[in-house]
Amino acid sequence: MEMHNNMRFVEYDGMHLPPFVPLLKDPKERFEEIRDMECRKDDVIIAAYSKSGTHWIWEVVCMLLKGKAEYAKETKEYLFLEAIPDMSVVHNLASPRPLNTHIPYRYLPKQHVQNGGKIIHIIRNPKDVAVSLYHQLLDSGLFKSFDFKTFLDEMFLGQACPFTTWFKYEKEFEEAEKKDKFGAIHTIHYENMKKNPIEETRKLAKFLEVSITEELIAEIVDKCSFHKLKQIDSTFKDQSHIDSMIHGSGGVNKPVMYRKGQIGDWKNHFTVALNEQFDDIFKEEMKNSSIQVQFE
Ligand code: A3P
Repeated sequence: MEMHNNMRFVEYDGMHLPPFVPLLKDPKERFEEIRDMECRKDDVIIAAYSKSGTHWIWEVVCMLLKGKAEYAKETKEYLFLEAIPDMSVVHNLASPRPLNTHIPYRYLPKQHVQNGGKIIHIIRNPKDVAVSLYHQLLDSGLFKSFDFKTFLDEMFLGQACPFTTWFKYEKEFEEAEKKDKFGAIHTIHYENMKKNPIEETRKLAKFLEVSITEELIAEIVDKCSFHKLKQIDSTFKDQSHIDSMIHGSGGVNKPVMYRKGQIGDWKNHFTVALNEQFDDIFKEEMKNSSIQVQFE
């Protein structure tokens, strides 16, 4: 796919990295900073493949940790490990820190993993992830010609995905969960959160060991509904962290983070032939995996 402005995804360790400024400058340095960062016992890391609902779960987690249904003034980019301009922001932050990242499991902070620090992993139907990512990249203005089929063939099902393929990312997490002797990884399915937000938020609260009333859970669920988060994003949130993230990344437009927020938008994008192609690749890639993806 031809890109505008001679932009290229940066290559590092077999991965294609999105054009976040710290990664453009020196990907190795940022990956090492993350891997070696000093962690605290009560740090929480939200780890998800891009477009799986990271912004949503980040807001829910922030409210649960605060014990209040109040929006954070900052956007989640404020604690987005691979994109923040300077890691000292994280070092100087009061506990508990709701960190978030899209980097593969093996690069997560070593200390956090070794100490059994809490990790919230979000998984979403890869067909909906593909559609969501397609729209984000389309809106970014990075590419000259860009139809959905080309995106699927050359990027999502090829090897040019941001960081790694969905399949590799999720299989790596599955392996980590099998070895998770601390019960440190809590996996949440986007679709379950959408269908049963009260139940899933209750489970999240339990995992985070916060005691919380049913009223507060209901209030958090309401405040974190798609429409309310979309509205708050444009009326209340301090956008400076997103602005600094895209500044210097070579002419990328500001992304729309709250697009549709639905299950099954893939049906509006996949032809029958594309769907069959996807299913075949999924079957092959996931043949040794027991991950249950909710396609509907
Ligand atoms: P769509 O593009 O399908 O709308 P991430 O935060 O990881 O980048 O994921 C973004 C996706 O999560 C977008 O999907 C966005 O609309 C969706 N999303 C954000 N908040 C949501 C909410 N409260 N409920 C449902 N989906 C939400």
